[in-house]
Amino acid sequence: MGTVPVNLNTISRTILDESSSPQALRDALDAFVLLCSEITNIRPDRSFDAWAEDSLLENGVAINPQAAAQCALDYERSVVFLRGIYAAINTLKLRFSDTPLEILYAGCGPFATLLLPLLGLFSPGEIKLYLMDFHQRSLDSVELLLADFGFCKYATRTIKADACSYTHPGKLHLVIAEVMQKSLEQEPQFAVTANLAPQLCSAGVFIPQFIDVSMYLSNLDQEKELLGQAQDIDSDALEKNARRYRLKTVCTLIPDQAAGQMQRAKSSSDELTFELEPITVRLPKISDIGRFDAVLFTRICVFGRYWLKDYESQITLPLKCHELSPLAGGERYRVCYQLGTYPRFVFEHLNRK
Ligand SMILES: C[S@@+](CC[C@H](N)C(=O)[O-])C[C@H]1O[C@@H](n2cnc3c(N)ncnc32)[C@H](O)[C@@H]1O
Repeated sequence: MGTVPVNLNTISRTILDESSSPQALRDALDAFVLLCSEITNIRPDRSFDAWAEDSLLENGVAINPQAAAQCALDYERSVVFLRGIYAAINTLKLRFSDTPLEILYAGCGPFATLLLPLLGLFSPGEIKLYLMDFHQRSLDSVELLLADFGFCKYATRTIKADACSYTHPGKLHLVIAEVMQKSLEQEPQFAVTANLAPQLCSAGVFIPQFIDVSMYLSNLDQEKELLGQAQDIDSDALEKNARRYRLKTVCTLIPDQAAGQMQRAKSSSDELTFELEPITVRLPKISDIGRFDAVLFTRICVFGRYWLKDYESQITLPLKCHELSPLAGGERYRVCYQLGTYPRFVFEHLNRK
């Protein structure tokens, strides 16, 4: 076990150091969460009374502050986002060298995990930071942390708003939003991106830069076994070693295109939800199709070379499409991403061809 970092500076340096061991990275994030919990009295809790205090908004669920705090402990997610965001800010500093960077962090949660550890690496004149969440308790917590960590000289503002409808007074250089679960289910990542990406200035950056959800046939038990045998197996090697059939990309979230996709979305028959353009998936005719699962895999490009791939984080875990079971070769399905209070993929069985 490595040395456990105790202050924010050591924590951020450990996280950004690409030679840090997985254990050192976990220790750093544990230490960050412990520091934040002691200051704010908010303790991470994944299940916190199963959805108690979640807010069910028009475009998806805003998870409660305890559950949002828990996200920090999705270690690889936090590390890859922090490294990507650090790289993005440095890139933007070069692009906009004569002005402080206007940064909006939407859905910051109680610990502003994806930015707070980086703040001290920039000088107060370099950035203006807007921290937004739907939960006032999270914003109060962030205020406490900013004061306790000694960031009073930085231009920071907390904003209580729904990121799906918020309009910022002026153009932004960087928007950060991680309001998602695997397969873009439940939380409003799509709608947040569609609303905020158009508020960037030209050459501004939206993080994450790209999300792909694709459908595969794969044997999840076999993949679990492979992962168990070699825990450090990367997702490319896993895809090669496991028997998988790639069917189709079912949704791509590119910030520049999201608002257009939302505008073209059609109301469903109940008029409570609306759907992005559907696609048709046909299951291949393979003899042992019964051994496979229909699965959605999510891949996220945070910024540049910083990616989260299959199994690397909670938000890139596979999602089994139970609606298609039992699988039968040649069957066709209409697949569409449904927006609304509970965003998710829906499947409709089409006639055999
Ligand atoms: C998955 S948590 C992520 C917390 C933190 N950003 C992190 O990455 O560790 C999502 C956060 O976004 C907030 N949120 C979700 N939907 C929102 C919305 N429409 N407007 C504002 N905040 C929202 C939730 O309240 C929650 O704090």
